[in-house]
Amino acid sequence: MSGHTPRRVLVTGGSGFLGHHLVERLRDRGDEVTVFDVSAPRRAACAGVRFVEGDLRDEAALEGAGRGAEVVYHLAAVVGVDQYLARPLDVVDINFSGTRNVLGVAARAGAKVVLASTSEVFGKNPAVPWREDGDRVLGPTTSDRWSYSSSKALAEHLTFAFARRHGLDATVVRYFNVYGPRQRPAYVVSRSVHRALNGRPLVVYDGGRQTRCFTFVDDAVTGTIRAADEPAASGEVFNIGSMAETSVGTVVGLVAELTGTTSVVDVDTTAALGESYEDLGRRVPDNAKAARVLGWRPETSLRDGLVRTIEWARASDWWLALPDSGAG
Ligand SMILES: NC(=O)c1ccc[n+]([C@@H]2O[C@H](COP(=O)([O-])OP(=O)(O)OC[C@H]3O[C@@H](n4cnc5c(N)ncnc54)[C@H](O)[C@@H]3O)[C@@H](O)[C@H]2O)c1
Repeated sequence: MSGHTPRRVLVTGGSGFLGHHLVERLRDRGDEVTVFDVSAPRRAACAGVRFVEGDLRDEAALEGAGRGAEVVYHLAAVVGVDQYLARPLDVVDINFSGTRNVLGVAARAGAKVVLASTSEVFGKNPAVPWREDGDRVLGPTTSDRWSYSSSKALAEHLTFAFARRHGLDATVVRYFNVYGPRQRPAYVVSRSVHRALNGRPLVVYDGGRQTRCFTFVDDAVTGTIRAADEPAASGEVFNIGSMAETSVGTVVGLVAELTGTTSVVDVDTTAALGESYEDLGRRVPDNAKAARVLGWRPETSLRDGLVRTIEWARASDWWLALPDSGAG
């Protein structure tokens, strides 16, 4: 990017789906990037990027990785319906204690922080579209399904509290159903593409009437970087999501059309995932604040994003060979 002054940045979770795309973009604009992640990148790490393997809960390792950082993008987390049903303890522990460690490291380094949060913090608030200051409406703590939402909300509280106590420059971004190349085949788009290209039937849950606002990964990365670069974003939270509400049935149908798949089966989530799972009817952001303050708008239509995702997947044998991991 012309006119950009290169910065030293730390990306936690840089081996993951969003992290990988973010790291590439930052590296390409000249930033000096360190990735901190518990797992090595699945495919060769980006050339020119330093990789530090470690767990967020190991503060000393994190401190070493973050030394000298000017910006910390905190993306590492336990993510995905299959994960928060199987590992609720890790979800809470890593998303909370890990974030606390990241904020401490950033505060000591005097770095700007961007925290990756989620539309899940709004829970099942029926009053869509959700503005950033909309209410959180959640189910009971006896349902593991809500552990992720609560852990991320606590991470947001921690971030704002650190900002006040330590003068930390921090911004929160809440992503809405991000999809694109490299995503683990555990979410509706990635899983449908993965199944279609492996010659398996596509799956729709509960008739596919639930709606989501699918956001292409390149657009999410742009919003994330703007959150770090824009001074007026300091201390603020932004919805980073498309407002184009699409039913899950429609998106699965589009994947079927674009891959030439004819077989689609319907699954009852209570039977497939158990009582502790509760799907949300609608999930829609109000993204006016991101437009106003960050100048951010999603630019990729769902069809274009799916075409790009499918094209990438067709050429990625390693990804097609991954196991299909659960529901999402
Ligand atoms: N993909 C989406 O649609 C979406 C939506 C809302 C929020 N988010 C948020 O965006 C961020 C990135 O999500 P993603 O989709 O790329 O997920 P991902 O699972 O692909 O990436 C998460 C990364 O964090 C790493 N990690 C997990 N536990 C760790 C630990 N203890 N120490 C160090 N690293 C650890 C994982 O190894 C992984 O590489 C997450 O914070 C997530 O909550 C994503």
